[in-house]
Amino acid sequence: MVDWNQQATFDAQYREAIRRKIGLRGYHRRAPAHYHWCEQQFRCDQMMTRQLAQPGWASVQQVAVIGAGFGWTAEFLAAAGIEAIPVDLSDYIANNWNVSEEAELRAAMDADPVLLADGYGPGNNFFDVADCFWDLSTGQAISGAAVWAKVLHPAGGRTTIPPEIADLSTSQGRNAVKNRFTGKKFDAVVSELVLGGHDIGDTAGPLDFVASMDSLAGPPSITRLHFVEQDVTDTETQNARSLNDWGLLLAANGFGTHYLSDTQGNWLRADQAVA
Ligand SMILES: C[S@@+](CC[C@H](N)C(=O)[O-])C[C@H]1O[C@@H](n2cnc3c(N)ncnc32)[C@H](O)[C@@H]1O
Repeated sequence: MVDWNQQATFDAQYREAIRRKIGLRGYHRRAPAHYHWCEQQFRCDQMMTRQLAQPGWASVQQVAVIGAGFGWTAEFLAAAGIEAIPVDLSDYIANNWNVSEEAELRAAMDADPVLLADGYGPGNNFFDVADCFWDLSTGQAISGAAVWAKVLHPAGGRTTIPPEIADLSTSQGRNAVKNRFTGKKFDAVVSELVLGGHDIGDTAGPLDFVASMDSLAGPPSITRLHFVEQDVTDTETQNARSLNDWGLLLAANGFGTHYLSDTQGNWLRADQAVA
């Protein structure tokens, strides 16, 4: 199992993602491959469009998104007028948030013989754009330049919002997050796919993380919301816990006021006190 709390493991996942995503058909939608803008722009767009239709967001002004990766969810929140700060502890994110993916993707294409066997040429284009982009049908004619335009983040780097590189499990990290906000105030702390869930026996890690989130957020009036993967029946994400399972776990451990929301837009308060 991948321990997302281990920085080294996590950074390795990012690097592995590049090889798997463009090297093996069908693998690009699996969890390790989901750290590229070309994959995640659609998930983030769908997820945040559904989220922002949920009750509560209208009053939210400042949000810390913890475990935000490159911060695309934070970007969607920012586009809705919310001051959203992405927070992550990864060195890879610290070193690459303002760097284009193009050289990295081209180098991976050049280096991987599987790509050549599948029709790539070194330094060239994608063999089947429909494998990479959910909004294109197979065989749709699209030029190399247009593919690259869809693959790469429009702003040139990976995100437009500088991430706060901080470990939420330390008070130093939590203070760094607080200091990013004007007046050190925020309304909501959101975790994004940090709780894991690939192993039903793993409760200590998620609960530690949730406790850190509580100690960052302070007053109970500040919303705590966890985005989790969509469904235990989804064999691609291979989740062990449903939304309800997460609710029961959190409520049983004193985190009943936390909200949980999946990528499909279903949500619940852990203690079910609010329907
Ligand atoms: C499964 S990834 C999700 C990344 C991103 N939110 C996304 O959806 O693509 C979990 C993220 O949480 C970060 N993370 C784990 N523990 C953390 C902690 N204690 N403080 C800050 N970030 C943490 C990891 O570095 C990783 O980027």
